Amino acid sequence: MLDTLEELKTKALGELKNLNDRSGIEAWRVGYLGRKGALTKILRSLPELAIEERREAGSAANKLKALLEESLTNKQESLKKADIERIMGESRIDVSLPGYPVRLGRLHPTTQILRETSAIFASMGFEVVEGPEVETDYYNFEALNIPRGHPARDMWDTLWVDYTDEKGERPMLMRTHTSPMQIRFMERRRPPIRVIMPGKVYRYEAIDATHESMFYQIEGLAVDKGITMAHLKGTLYEYARRLFGQDRRVRFRCDYFPFVEPGVEMAIDCFICKGEGCRVCKNEGWIEILGAGMVHPDVLRRVDCDPEIYTGFAFGMGLERIPMLKYGIDDIRLFYSNDLRFLEQF
Ligand code: PHE
Repeated sequence: MLDTLEELKTKALGELKNLNDRSGIEAWRVGYLGRKGALTKILRSLPELAIEERREAGSAANKLKALLEESLTNKQESLKKADIERIMGESRIDVSLPGYPVRLGRLHPTTQILRETSAIFASMGFEVVEGPEVETDYYNFEALNIPRGHPARDMWDTLWVDYTDEKGERPMLMRTHTSPMQIRFMERRRPPIRVIMPGKVYRYEAIDATHESMFYQIEGLAVDKGITMAHLKGTLYEYARRLFGQDRRVRFRCDYFPFVEPGVEMAIDCFICKGEGCRVCKNEGWIEILGAGMVHPDVLRRVDCDPEIYTGFAFGMGLERIPMLKYGIDDIRLFYSNDLRFLEQF
């Protein structure tokens, strides 16, 4: 009996070694370990043996069964491994490699400053509204007291849209500032109004380090009973201090914009040299950051708002200038040239 087992062992292991496919291995398993398999048959016949022989043969047969089962498992494992290797070799994908890390992006410096600015004004009760970049002559100029032929049109070199209306006129343009939104907003809403209106504006410019043909502005507008210049100054002062530091000082000087009266420009004292004079403030000690003023009575009338009852202030500022000052960026063209070496610094 022991000899039979030994023979069976040699034969079974020898066969298994040469098997390379699943069906062959399955046939092998059935042939030796299955219900009618060679080894199973021996195990079943054990009770027929004499007691002495039975003990020895039983132990050997069970050992052999364990060995065959273990060999089978090993064979199946190595076949699985070979399968994976073959698939990987064919598709050239190593499924065991860790994945590529996802590169986290970051917000564009313009977006960052826009969000910061919106948050500051929102905390003072201003809502945020956007409007069209393609405008009509009416909203961009006429309604803002800049009729055709007005010299102030020279302040905003314009990109006209190639569209001629039935009167043979070209009324469409890329807005040169966000001020047309003052009109659009007031046409729809009655005071009290507190709103900022950010967005892209366009100018026909000779592009250089400080001039782009596209940039961002934020327009601010507050209209209500009893709004005065003091509200304008207080609001913008608060903004300047929150963005550039609590020790900021502001300077208002007379300026001219046809749609405000009086008009001012606001400057902050240089946060780098604190007014001493340096490269950022061009030795002036002051940095101009925006234009503002009290909404012109004619503008209010145009949107059916009685200037005897309501007054308001408006302001407009270029957005890129703020991070340029804050981070010492010396070329506005960097903002929209999509160079990651620049963008990744913020
Ligand atoms: N729109 C003006 C500009 O682009 C800025 C401004 C806005 C001035 C509102 C006064 C009031 O220069």
